[in-house]
Amino acid sequence: MEVIIRPDADAAARLAARIIAHDLRANPKLVLGLATGRTMEAVYGRLVRLHHDERLDFSLCQTFNLDEYVGLRAEDPHSYRHYMDEHLFNEVNIDPRNTHLPDGCALDLAEECEAYEALIRRCGGIDLQLLGIGRAGHIGFNEPLSALMSRTRVKALSPRTLAQNAPLFDVATKMPRRAITMGVGTILESRRCLLLATGAEKAEIIAKAVEGPISSMISATALQLHAHCTVIVDEAAAESLAERDYYRWIFDNEPEWTGYRHL
Ligand code: F6R
Repeated sequence: MEVIIRPDADAAARLAARIIAHDLRANPKLVLGLATGRTMEAVYGRLVRLHHDERLDFSLCQTFNLDEYVGLRAEDPHSYRHYMDEHLFNEVNIDPRNTHLPDGCALDLAEECEAYEALIRRCGGIDLQLLGIGRAGHIGFNEPLSALMSRTRVKALSPRTLAQNAPLFDVATKMPRRAITMGVGTILESRRCLLLATGAEKAEIIAKAVEGPISSMISATALQLHAHCTVIVDEAAAESLAERDYYRWIFDNEPEWTGYRHL
């Protein structure tokens, strides 16, 4: 695992966007895993700017989102499909047919989950998976007790997730209590994972995810098993990391890592 500490949330999002852009330029047919949420808005904002200012080309890439609420139609302003259209897809030259999210309104949800996994496989697997982290440590909607080998499935949302995201709904009670999410095992099969966390409210959970014991109670800890996982945090989210001075030293001194400074 690489832990990169940037001075503030803006610099952290900028680096995440630059890494995505770098990989997309190296492979225009990149299969990109995407996340939603407040943290990612800055990353998508940056990617849109890179598209306009530096002609970053999305025309051949495929995207797979981590999750979608059960019961929300694509046109619902609270759906993750709507979020993605608004923050990224409508703003860049991506082919809408190449943008994939699970269908939370599918008649047979189990079949939908299997079909999503099959589609990821058919596209050759995910090259780069962007991740946020919930305050209780979920990646995607892999809530406490998510098996470390779990696949795409329906998950009941935990009370902490409901509390975290209900304010985003105009009427809090309208928030669905279930979502389709890629499993921890699905995420771990991505060739590279890129987790971004910013702000003081993420400090405690980032320390547990990066430096704590691996546990299905905190699905982000499973990223410690991944051979190529980069964690980008700002100073506020890095505050509780016991080894933060070490991570800073590596970033400043190790040739392999200093490459990030040119991005
Ligand atoms: C959403 C997702 C979630 C969020 C996490 C953090 O697609 O995968 O795991 O990344 O809940 O959300 P924010 O950024 O709103 O704190």
